Amino acid sequence: MIKDKPWGGRFQESTSALVEEFTCSVHFDCRLALYDIAGSIAHARMLKACGLITPEEAQNIIEGLEQIKKEIEQGLFKWRQDLEDVHMNIEMALREKIGPVAGKLHTARSRNDQVATDVRLFLRDILDKALDLLVSLRWALVNKAEKTIGIIMPGFTHLQHAQPVLLAHHLMAYYEMFTRDTRRLRSARQSVNICPLGSAALAGTPFPIDRHMVAQELGFEGITRNSMDAVADRDFILEFMFAATTCLLHLSRLMEEFVLWMSPEFSFIDLPDSLCTGSSIMPQKKNPDVAELIRGKSGRVVGNLLTLCTVIKGLPLTYNRDLQEDKEALFDTCDTLLPCLRLARDLIEGFRPHQEKMYQACAEGFLTATDLADYLVTKGLPFRDAHHVVGKIVAYCLDRKIKLWELPLEKFREFSDLVEEDVYEWLTLEGSVARRRVPGGTAPERVKEALEQAKKELTEGRP
Ligand code: ARG
Repeated sequence: MIKDKPWGGRFQESTSALVEEFTCSVHFDCRLALYDIAGSIAHARMLKACGLITPEEAQNIIEGLEQIKKEIEQGLFKWRQDLEDVHMNIEMALREKIGPVAGKLHTARSRNDQVATDVRLFLRDILDKALDLLVSLRWALVNKAEKTIGIIMPGFTHLQHAQPVLLAHHLMAYYEMFTRDTRRLRSARQSVNICPLGSAALAGTPFPIDRHMVAQELGFEGITRNSMDAVADRDFILEFMFAATTCLLHLSRLMEEFVLWMSPEFSFIDLPDSLCTGSSIMPQKKNPDVAELIRGKSGRVVGNLLTLCTVIKGLPLTYNRDLQEDKEALFDTCDTLLPCLRLARDLIEGFRPHQEKMYQACAEGFLTATDLADYLVTKGLPFRDAHHVVGKIVAYCLDRKIKLWELPLEKFREFSDLVEEDVYEWLTLEGSVARRRVPGGTAPERVKEALEQAKKELTEGRP
């Protein structure tokens, strides 16, 4: 038997050093320590309430765990690689403190339901932080949109000038994405917040325990319904990872726009010095590294999501050691998501739009060509014909390097005698934007409505 391992009873030879190193997870799962202790304390209280341990034993165990908690918080706890993981490290430390009675804590419990509980508690905290950050990021978008409501910029498709839009409308498009991300993360939180403890190794336990009591102590919404599912399930992590990945993909799109907009070719915005960095060789440089890194870091969370999908694929029920591979991917996604949300919010708050540049950019690329076609439609021409006529007018203007609104009325009338003096109003940027009054459109009154709606839902804590 191996004396110094909690599972050493049936073993005759000691573990090879390489195996110890290979199977060890304590260097990363020690991060779950405080959740592990919280779960153990709730479990001990329940064992006492159900008469499975005496009040004195429970008190001993809980006091011992609380001492360990303090040592961990003060950085005094010595983690041992030969004890594999966070659970056995804490269990052995408890035994050293209070003697063999420590062994009673593991009644009606296995590391399989224990680790599932720890990860759920950990992830619930991360989700609460992420949700708070998302709310403040959405506020930042709303506030910026409100402050810049008068700014018109080119809207793009295929990264080519398409139609004029309000910068506020563009920002509120991101507000919609981050609102859906909020909904997805909230839904992931519901899946996370269910207690697997009491499922034991896989089949449940013969002891008359009270699973609801533990769940309630730990703030869970309810208990898992099937013990085999409870120890094998990692969907709750996948749900979080998918929501986090989608959110980072949205962040990376916004960051890509900031990077483009800050380049001299666009010159649409400037970013605060405090959020940019310089070059070690080119003294003139101010680079949008934070935006670039957020864009770049989205790659790793995609990788983490795929890692976990691949780990789970084809795993037979129930617990398999493969599942230990969920943690580093999960931690990395958490450690990426939170600072990215925080810094993206600062970038949104801090960027300065160059109103003039955006407006001037709208002069290029025939942004109001669709308006001219729409104008002809209001005069009775079918849209497809109008499209054709305007195409010819655009080609004519391109040839002569003039803008649509520089074309004299007589010239317009050579292309279509439906054109009258009122056409010029249709060709202005302000007119183009203002006419898009359809629900969801870029007209200032619609965007203002969207802003009011957003402020209302944010104030009410929705979604
Ligand atoms: N370190 C393990 C994990 O992360 C804990 C559960 C171990 N269970 C077992 N039967 N070996 O999944």
